[in-house]
Amino acid sequence: MHRRLRTWALIGLGVLLVVVVVLPVFSTLQPDYYRRYPDLGPRMDHWETSTHARISCGECHLDPGISGVVTFSAKAIPAFYSQLVQGPDTTNLLGTPTREACQKCHTSYRSVAPSGDLLIPHKAHVGILKMECTTCHKNLVHSLNRHGFNRPDMETCLTCHDGVAATDECVKCHTRKQTPASHTQKDWLQVHGAAAAEQDCAECHDWTPGYCAECHERKPASHVGNWKKNHAAPAKVRGDGCLVCHGGEEFCKTCH
Ligand code: HEC
Ligand code: HEC
Ligand code: HEC
Ligand code: HEC
Ligand code: HEC
Ligand code: HEC
Ligand code: HEC
Ligand code: HEC
Ligand code: HEC
Repeated sequence: MHRRLRTWALIGLGVLLVVVVVLPVFSTLQPDYYRRYPDLGPRMDHWETSTHARISCGECHLDPGISGVVTFSAKAIPAFYSQLVQGPDTTNLLGTPTREACQKCHTSYRSVAPSGDLLIPHKAHVGILKMECTTCHKNLVHSLNRHGFNRPDMETCLTCHDGVAATDECVKCHTRKQTPASHTQKDWLQVHGAAAAEQDCAECHDWTPGYCAECHERKPASHVGNWKKNHAAPAKVRGDGCLVCHGGEEFCKTCH
């Protein structure tokens, strides 16, 4: 009789423990728990359409192993009960995932992006520079970058790749982008002015402030010999083109 009572008491205690401990941990790892907060709701919708939609919250947000669960529970259990009593609580239970969490699943890295254009030596950045994955992959799950993708954007790279701390040469990262077909024609330097009128050059050249201007402050190859005398013929053909470098007609008027 006593023994049976004890068994039931133990079972009861077990159930209570499960409810008291497991319920809060389970709940605080569900998207719906966060949907209640206006600023987090849309970020849960993004997760549902991301590549990681079938990866549960805890896979990224808990560090590997039992210590990850314990650390999280220690924060989650009190927060869960506190919000039951005091209403929605904005304590940030799920912070930015660590490198170790991503590495539960991703153990080897490409050094070229799937597109083939972009070089991205993961080993150098993660292994040697000890960067967190989320420094670059911050738009992976819950948001899109400013161009509408989950991929890392170039602006993020350029925070370090400013030409001082790390290289900012296009060809160090891009294997194809550096030479649009137009640029390979022999007389590109002569004809690019006309192309500029028809086509957007800013897409690439705005990344380098003053790219066009710097060159246009130098004397072009056409200005050789007795240019003062010979400029008449080119000026008659493309008078407006001259003004790209020469500012305004004021320049011509200094002599004419
Ligand atoms: C594939 C990994 C991954 C999965 C799965 C994932 N997240 Fe995240 N989560 C991230 C990353 C990366 C960040 C940090 C960047 C950011 O804030 O968007 C983050 C940030 C957050 C934040 C902090 C937001 C803030 O504004 O501070 C919350 C809350 C969050 N995630 C909740 C969840 C929930 C709930 C789930 C399950 C539906 C989930 N995450 C699934 C990777 C993941
Ligand atoms: C539980 C396993 C798991 C975890 C944890 C995980 N991923 Fe993934 N990841 C996947 C799977 C599965 C895919 C899809 C692979 C495919 O479709 O080829 C993927 C795809 C990706 C891709 C390529 C697709 C895309 O959307 O660009 C990137 C980048 C990526 N993961 C980065 C991360 C980062 C960064 C973290 C840590 C914040 C992380 N993953 C955490 C399993 C995981
Ligand atoms: C220095 C920035 C940077 C860091 C740090 C970084 N990545 Fe990446 N990762 C990229 C870029 C850029 C791509 C290419 C994205 C694209 O074009 O789709 C990429 C691609 C990936 C892919 C997709 C490759 C494929 O085969 O589709 C995975 C998976 C990935 N990263 C995981 C990680 C993980 C996990 C970490 C941390 C251990 C990490 N990355 C750290 C920039 C970074
Ligand atoms: C936290 C700073 C930091 C960020 C952010 C960063 N890098 Fe780097 N990266 C470095 C440093 C430092 C080096 C080594 C110095 C160098 O090569 O100029 C490097 C080297 C490289 C190299 C090798 C360059 C060479 O000379 O061959 C490539 C390619 C590269 N990074 C791509 C990227 C891409 C793509 C991104 C963005 C997705 C990125 N990096 C973001 C710091 C960073
Ligand atoms: C440190 C590495 C790095 C350097 C240096 C770099 N880029 Fe990028 N660039 C990137 C990354 C990462 C992206 C985003 C790729 C994506 O969204 O798939 C990108 C995207 C772009 C895009 C738009 C997206 C596309 O795929 O068309 C253009 C255009 C571009 N880069 C041009 C340049 C030019 C021009 C230079 C030299 C002035 C340059 N990049 C230097 C890393 C770099
Ligand atoms: C897809 C990217 C991209 C686009 C679009 C682009 N360029 Fe370029 N351009 C480059 C790269 C990369 C270089 C080589 C940069 C370097 O050497 O520093 C370059 C070089 C040049 C040069 C110098 C050539 C030389 O021989 O020194 C001129 C002039 C030029 N571009 C003009 C233009 C004009 C005008 C347009 C618009 C009609 C344009 N570009 C559009 C990427 C681009
Ligand atoms: C490598 C140096 C260099 C760079 C970089 C450069 N230009 Fe030029 N640009 C020239 C030279 C040289 C001429 C004169 C060509 C001639 O008269 O034969 C010229 C002429 C022009 C003309 C007038 C052409 C005419 O009819 O005489 C335009 C317009 C022009 N460039 C636009 C641009 C734009 C836009 C960019 C930046 C995207 C750019 N250039 C970058 C060297 C450069
Ligand atoms: C790529 C830029 C560029 C373009 C395009 C350009 N010039 Fe110039 N030009 C210069 C520079 C730089 C100088 C030198 C200015 C100085 O020394 O103060 C110069 C000097 C001159 C001079 C003065 C020469 C002297 O000996 O004092 C004349 C005249 C002139 N350009 C006419 C033209 C005419 C006409 C055109 C159009 C057919 C033209 N330029 C197109 C950059 C350009
Ligand atoms: C440094 C003085 C100087 C400047 C600046 C100058 N020119 Fe001239 N230009 C001359 C001289 C001198 C001649 C007469 C050359 C000859 O035929 O002997 C001339 C002749 C010409 C001619 C042919 C004669 C005519 O009047 O039909 C044209 C067209 C011309 N210049 C256009 C320009 C344009 C456009 C600019 C501004 C981009 C310019 N010039 C700037 C000195 C200058």
